[in-house]
Amino acid sequence: MRKQIAAANWKMNLTVDKAEALLNDILSAQINLSEDQLAVFAVPFPYLQMAQQKLNNTNNFFIAAQNCYSKKSGAITGEVSVEMLQSLGIKYVVLGHSERREFFEESNKFLAEKLNIALEYNITPVFCCGEPLSIRDAQTQNEFVAKQLEESLFHFSKDDIQKIVIAYEPIWAIGTGKTATSEQAQEMHAHLRKVLADNFGKDVADNISILYGGSVKASNAKEIFSQPDVDGGLVGGASLVADEFITIIKSLK
Ligand code: PGA
Repeated sequence: MRKQIAAANWKMNLTVDKAEALLNDILSAQINLSEDQLAVFAVPFPYLQMAQQKLNNTNNFFIAAQNCYSKKSGAITGEVSVEMLQSLGIKYVVLGHSERREFFEESNKFLAEKLNIALEYNITPVFCCGEPLSIRDAQTQNEFVAKQLEESLFHFSKDDIQKIVIAYEPIWAIGTGKTATSEQAQEMHAHLRKVLADNFGKDVADNISILYGGSVKASNAKEIFSQPDVDGGLVGGASLVADEFITIIKSLK
């Protein structure tokens, strides 16, 4: 049975005091998750260790990095490797967020390399995909997103692909307050699952968690997460507010 995941993406927000306070507030809510439900917090690099210690192995709560480099170590000033993440006990890394693709020109091919090394170090990638508004307006979003999967994911074995979490985030819905409708989300998630099934087989595709991201908040999470092919969400803005994110975690099916 695939995991249902509420993933917070703090992006480049919060000072350390505020980050600690936010985690304290969320942890003190003592949310009981079932075996197949997870809460993941993608925090800025400087807070990884603090956050990891604060969770203190709380059941089904995990810390994620928001990025990593494609090489193990070396003369790459300013980058962070999966080996470093592993040494901190980090189990998840967000890869290919649209902001990384846009501002740092990360290509599908480069992301394939990052995915490879993440798996090599037993770190679960949350691989982001999603189309810009121009593609949605041209109604070619299905082909666009399938190509992102094909170029970054199709080289994996049936075993390895199941170690990856996918997050579908239509760029026009990120930080805009404009959420995809639950029908639009379901339609794309079903499409992605079919693309995965065509390449890896239905059993494999049915095991892969596909999260929705883009203006998820406490008031819409339940409806979006209730869609059959939506396995939770990757949440930016609303994950910075304790009560909002607590409700979002509790909205997992
Ligand atoms: P948002 O961001 O929830 O603020 O729209 C989502 C994301 O970029 O992961």
